[in-house]
Amino acid sequence: MKSTEYIESLPTSTHISRLGAHWIGSVNLERIVNYAGTPVFIYSAAQLTKNARRVKAAAGEAGLGDRLSIFVPFFPNANPHILRPLQDEGVGILLQMPNEHEIVTKFGYSNFIVSPGHVSNEEISFWGQHGYPTFLASLDEITFALQQKAKTISVRIDSLGSDKPGIKVDQLADLAQMLKAHDRTLECFEVYCGSGNSLDDMIDIARQIFRMFLDHFSTAKSINFAGGHGFKYEGWDDQIKHFDWLTYFKAIRVLAAEMGIPDYVNFLIEPARDILADTGVLLVGVKRDIVKHSNGSIVVTDGSRMLMPSAQLRNRSHNTVFLDDTFREIFHGEDAVTCKIRGRSLLRNDYILPGEAVAPNSVVAGGYLLIFDVGAYCATQHMEFLNVPPAGEVVVSIDSSMHLVTKPGHPLDKWRNLLPEHQPIPVG
Ligand SMILES: Cc1ncc(COP(=O)(O)O)c(C=O)c1O
Repeated sequence: MKSTEYIESLPTSTHISRLGAHWIGSVNLERIVNYAGTPVFIYSAAQLTKNARRVKAAAGEAGLGDRLSIFVPFFPNANPHILRPLQDEGVGILLQMPNEHEIVTKFGYSNFIVSPGHVSNEEISFWGQHGYPTFLASLDEITFALQQKAKTISVRIDSLGSDKPGIKVDQLADLAQMLKAHDRTLECFEVYCGSGNSLDDMIDIARQIFRMFLDHFSTAKSINFAGGHGFKYEGWDDQIKHFDWLTYFKAIRVLAAEMGIPDYVNFLIEPARDILADTGVLLVGVKRDIVKHSNGSIVVTDGSRMLMPSAQLRNRSHNTVFLDDTFREIFHGEDAVTCKIRGRSLLRNDYILPGEAVAPNSVVAGGYLLIFDVGAYCATQHMEFLNVPPAGEVVVSIDSSMHLVTKPGHPLDKWRNLLPEHQPIPVG
């Protein structure tokens, strides 16, 4: 179902340009397609910088500038080339797997926190050796870290009482007791609250998190509000799309003062969608004129649901713009038809987007389709089911130069580990 914002943001005339106001509007798509083909993910370093600065500016204006650290999770866009501007902005990276640590350190990154989910003792020791704040997710894991005399102890709390890894709220008293018995205090605790909350919900959750601090961990040095800061895929306007950080940070400052949270307690956040989503656009090729039959209309593309399963999984209505074969935006108005956007495989539901998109009637084979806000949870989720190779990735730098950062997958990628001959497993 379309949200009110989406309906409001639909063009009212046939000549409203969506690209004029968007960074992708000034990118030479023809050069990219000639070099990397389609489908291809395109990212903007300038937009990533702008997004990081928006959050930092709001924190500064709310009086939290010195108390706030931002860590962007690596798994929603696991490409160190794309995340590079975050380093220049003093934004750290949230890791969850040792292999992520290996790749980002090779690329010169150094400012990390770790939220690994439920893991083995070996993995806890791995992170312990590095000394990064590591948010452990069960009493059992914390018992091990205490036995190992870990330099620093941090925990992850599941405030939803869900299946997400994390210490449950009814275990907090036991945790506090355990720490006391070992004469240890928490460095930080992280509370992830899900991705579907309104601004008011998020402020209310901040209040609950402060309550946890006061009731159980009043000696902790910092509090990690994690992610869940809303991003509206359906809007076009920056102000509609992005989370209202200023109101949120001001509310946190007021709540902290009212509830008596000491000034030395610092705050962490781990936003992914708000920082990353609108830094990426997926360009796919339109491969047939609009197919019309009794089940509706279909735009056939060379994309696939397998490139960004998140759209279907999370029912995200990413915005779209159609281009003709010379990469000019096709405006739509009265002649538009609603279409499903089909991927290239035979799977019944290989639709790239959930529901339907609005397509101008003039869409024909040889044109292109831009799918917006794919900078988080998209290329990184590429699935090899159906043997669809991954798409290439291109970064547009601040100086407008363009760089291929992931080469397009080879058609035989799916079989890269297949042995030419079967290999007997040695006896003994
Ligand atoms: C621990 C943690 N932090 C941060 C995030 C990012 O969340 P969002 O996309 O809501 O900003 C996630 C998302 O799953 C998460 O699990």
